Amino acid sequence: MPSIKKKNIAIAISGASGAIYAQRLLKKIKGLDNQIDKIAIVFSENAKQIWQEELHKPLPVAQDMQIFENNDFYCPLASGSNDFDAMIIVPASMGIVGRIANGISDDLISRAADVMLKERRKLIVVPRETPYNLVHIRNMETITLAGGIICPATPSFYQNPQNINELADTVVDRIIDLVGLQQKSFRWGD
Ligand SMILES: Cc1cc2nc3c(=O)[nH]c(=O)nc-3n(C[C@H](O)[C@H](O)[C@H](O)COP(=O)(O)O)c2cc1C
Repeated sequence: MPSIKKKNIAIAISGASGAIYAQRLLKKIKGLDNQIDKIAIVFSENAKQIWQEELHKPLPVAQDMQIFENNDFYCPLASGSNDFDAMIIVPASMGIVGRIANGISDDLISRAADVMLKERRKLIVVPRETPYNLVHIRNMETITLAGGIICPATPSFYQNPQNINELADTVVDRIIDLVGLQQKSFRWGD
């Protein structure tokens, strides 16, 4: 069988509600280590607080992944010569969506997203806000036109999720599909 090139994935967690999406993504993605070489993680400062408030769990520690501070512009993700295949921002606040859409690379998350777009690599943004105002919608349009993928944190119900983890997984499974990783998950029509 031909060997598949393993992917390097960056996961940014910003200060929107929905830390569970990031938690579930990290759990699932670690189980796909046959397809993944490197995982890099960045939290915004608000995201660190929201993670603890919503999940009542300590922040993940660097074991089989690298964790970078959001002000670390020496991190490889800040440069176009990095070897990351995809970046996921989950959950994405309207603040980070606005900074990316306007090229304001004033922290590592916005700079790394800017790099992914300029290098024409995969950027998946998972916004969490409701309702949207026109500024939010225009910013999401700009990111889409620049090549990013907006994958809203909108769970689906047709799988009959039985608990909050299963509900969050309906979004997380879509993200994993969009990255191009193979996994067993239930999709409409299966
Ligand atoms: C508890 C809490 C929940 C928040 N939830 C959201 C949210 O769901 N969506 C959003 O766009 N901003 C939300 N915010 C506001 C953002 O954290 C704030 O705009 C921040 O500046 C975003 O920057 P960051 O993404 O770099 O953390 C929330 C803030 C707090 C304290």
